[in-house]
Amino acid sequence: METLAGMKRTRHCGELREGDVGAEIVLSGWVSRRRDHGGLIFVDMRDRSGFVQVVYDEAAMGKDAFHKAETLRSEFVIGVRGKVRARSADTVNPNIETGKIEVVCEELRILNTAKTPPFYIQDDIDVDEMLRLKYRYLDLRRPEMQANLMLRHRVTKIMRDFLDRHEFIEIETPMLCKSTPEGARDFLVPSRLNPGKFYALPQSPQIFKQILMVAGFEKYFQIVRCFRDEDLRADRQPEFTQLDIETSFFDEDDILELMEGLVAELFDKTLGVKLKTPFLRMKWDEAMERFGSDKPDLRFGMELMDISEYVKGSDFKVFASVLENGGQVKVINVEDYANIPRRELDGLVQYVQGYGAKGLAWIQYTEEGVKSPFKKFYADEVFEKIKAACHAKTGDLLLVIADKPLVVAQALGELRLEMARRRNLIDADALNFLWVTDFPMFEYNEEEKRWKAMHHPFTAPRREDVAYLTSDPGRVKANAYDMVLNGVEIGGGSLRIYQGDLQEKVFEAIGLTEEEARQKFGFMMDAFAYGTPPHGGIAFGLDRLVMLMAKRRSIRDVIAFPKTQSASDVMSQAPSEVDAKQLRELSVRSTAVKKEEKK
Ligand code: AMO
Ligand code: AMP
Repeated sequence: METLAGMKRTRHCGELREGDVGAEIVLSGWVSRRRDHGGLIFVDMRDRSGFVQVVYDEAAMGKDAFHKAETLRSEFVIGVRGKVRARSADTVNPNIETGKIEVVCEELRILNTAKTPPFYIQDDIDVDEMLRLKYRYLDLRRPEMQANLMLRHRVTKIMRDFLDRHEFIEIETPMLCKSTPEGARDFLVPSRLNPGKFYALPQSPQIFKQILMVAGFEKYFQIVRCFRDEDLRADRQPEFTQLDIETSFFDEDDILELMEGLVAELFDKTLGVKLKTPFLRMKWDEAMERFGSDKPDLRFGMELMDISEYVKGSDFKVFASVLENGGQVKVINVEDYANIPRRELDGLVQYVQGYGAKGLAWIQYTEEGVKSPFKKFYADEVFEKIKAACHAKTGDLLLVIADKPLVVAQALGELRLEMARRRNLIDADALNFLWVTDFPMFEYNEEEKRWKAMHHPFTAPRREDVAYLTSDPGRVKANAYDMVLNGVEIGGGSLRIYQGDLQEKVFEAIGLTEEEARQKFGFMMDAFAYGTPPHGGIAFGLDRLVMLMAKRRSIRDVIAFPKTQSASDVMSQAPSEVDAKQLRELSVRSTAVKKEEKK
């Protein structure tokens, strides 16, 4: 194998242009594609910056040197000394940025060979993601993946610059902590020096950043890894990155405005997109009511409409019993789809059942009249009234769900998204930002039969609702806000409680005894007694934000080494079993191992 000696790179492949014609250059990189025309070999050479065509010409190089070029294969690592020349008019490739020129090789060094990769190193490959993850180093060599990670780098750089300019300072917080109450399951780390005790990996730096406010730093940020042991989805990883922010002496409007400025600067400086600020603000109640979601996708309409008043008091038991029990009957209008195939309707019933609805009904306004499973229970004029109220026309399809409000919201909200996808109503290029504000302070947990903090228990209740904290927790709204982009929650935060007595009331509302509260958050309550400024903050999901900026569907495409659905790394094979000795040192015994031994 040859060495780099005397072959110091002078230029990058992807940056060469017509203006470089005549230049003597040295390139380093990989063989991407090679075409052998007998006596003439064309190689697309790739480095981080892109591609350029390198020509090996037997007549010009001589037999020996050319012979070496003939041994080149995909992904060999090479150094090339050569000269840039213009391509002849008939060989210009307008599809690539370096398509007007090529490099004539004068000296070739083969710096390393390579095995044949298991998939092509190119964009838009149709390869099982498991294979991509197993050979992640090859997957990451593909231009689109390189672009994603470079975008991510740009985004964090701009975040740091913006926040620095606004007098925020970056402070690191521990990775080995006491468990924080973000609501997901903790990852635990056994302490060797404290047998039987465990650290938790942080679900977020929430408590530490609030304590930094007590400590008087006033404006904090951190680009920080967070860990949550939850069920994974396309936009959820067990470890993910937040841009975490906290400020003192800011009210809600100050925070929202500053964050809009940050996001606008990100889109401007990376994608050249000018966002319109301020973003739309919508209260949680309204978002749930109109879109059945606390992260509504406003790139299309199809709002949820309540038809309870038209269908009440009939013999149709399904609606009657739901309405008697405090439920509602709501619809979405799928325009121009009255001719939906029966088979698809049956499929939709299953679809909404997956989201907790007991069933689905419909009204088809066809040229031949109304078709509906509950047609016989109502006079024709009821269907006409519904049609008018929903601004429906002949040819439209109303999908109907009757249930408790939260179930209707969830199931019909998901159905709205699904129908928009199926009917192609979503403009993939649109960027729709909004703030959802005034979240409920608590949500009722049916399993545990108790109220839980919807965001986290340090979130400030709206001042006018404080009186209901313990008497009627369900009606208390919080100074909490989420930033939503195209139906994805990209950030969330709140103003915090900074008075001890209010904090105690909130703990009481979620059923924490004084003793439990002390045990969990005693250190925080202690700190808060020493002059805590009014404060609040937010955290952005960096992975989600970059995913949307890069127009990807999964955050795995913007994370160098992500985990699979089952939380494993198929490249390094984590998690893995460990030596019995390691476990002994940690005073830990695995029950999983025991079961194996029993068999
Ligand atoms: P929250 O829990 O809303 O708030 O998290 C903030 C943002 O982080 C992103 N996110 C995730 N991204 C990828 N994978 C996950 N598993 C995951 N979980 C959350 C989301 C979300 O909006 N400490 C508070 C913030 C605060 O109050 O200041 C917090 O962590 O984009
Ligand atoms: P069932 O009595 O369960 O067979 O339901 C009769 C019809 O009512 C079904 O065909 C559905 O169209 C409709 N239906 C049942 N449950 C619901 C529901 N929760 N919401 C809307 N429609 C429903």
